[in-house]
Parts: sequence; structure tokens; C-alpha cells
Amino acid sequence: AIERTLSIIKPDAVAKNVIGKIYDRFEQAGLKIIASKMAHLSQSEAEQFYSVHKERPFFKDLVSFMISGPVMIQVLQGEGAIAKNRDLMGATDPKKAEKGTIRADFADSIDANAVHGSDAPETAAVEVAFFFPGMQVFNR
Ligand code: CMP
Repeated sequence: AIERTLSIIKPDAVAKNVIGKIYDRFEQAGLKIIASKMAHLSQSEAEQFYSVHKERPFFKDLVSFMISGPVMIQVLQGEGAIAKNRDLMGATDPKKAEKGTIRADFADSIDANAVHGSDAPETAAVEVAFFFPGMQVFNR
């Protein structure tokens, strides 16, 4: 099915000046960027966005990293977009990410791991609506 997923290029990758290289991977894989914006998240936005992780030991570090600089936020659309984006990103921990994935090529650590991508249709709908509240999302 044609899906939409939320993608964030994190502060480490924005600082490395690789937004274009990462966008190229999305486009080469057949994913269309149908919305995008750069933002410097506030602490409360980052805490809300990652609220599913609020009991996890890494929550505080995750939030402070995500507000350490601007991020690039986009909605990707395409056939199986959620899984396709996760394949492009590679494992959460860049040390475990397969060669040729975004995290293997651009990430430094499990916190500074270059990109975020929604992990399932339900979270994709919530995450897209969080950053692009005017957008209609169809999960067919
Ligand atoms: P992300 O896909 O943005 O979702 C939550 C983030 O928490 C994750 O990427 C990592 O950058 C970060 N994180 C830090 N430690 C862990 C951990 N042990 N397990 C999962 N995510 C972690």
C-alpha cells in the first residue's frame, strides 16, 4: 500500500551538511518528500514527540540531543514507505547498521544517529499529525 511516514534528520546530520545526501537516498528509493520544514525543537516539543520513551533511561539524553540544533522534518510517501525508510536508515545503533545504510554512513552513536523514522502505521499517523497538523493522512 501507499503509505506516509515521518522522517527527521537529526541535529548531528544537519550539522554535517548531509541533508541533500539523505534526501537523495529517499528519492532514489522511490520515496517522495511531500512535506518538509526545518525547525529547532523546544524542550517541550521534543518531550511530547518522544513521550512513548519517557520512562526509558535514555529519555533525558535523547531530548537534550534533539534540541541541541536544528532538525529537518519531512513526510515521505510511497509504496511501503514505513518499512522502506527503516531499511534505508539501518539499525538504531549505527555500530549494528548494515553497510550502505544512512546510519552506517552518517551516524556516530546511538544518540547521534542521524535520522528518525516512524516504526508502524499507527505511530506514523500520530507523528505526521504532530508536525504537520493540517495534513490528511490515509492509511490504506
Ligand atoms: P529514534 O528512532 O529517534 O527513537 C528514539 C531514539 O532514542 C533512538 O532513535 C535513539 O537515537 C535513542 N536511543 C538512545 N538509546 C537507545 C536505546 N538503548 N534503545 C533505543 N533507542 C535509543
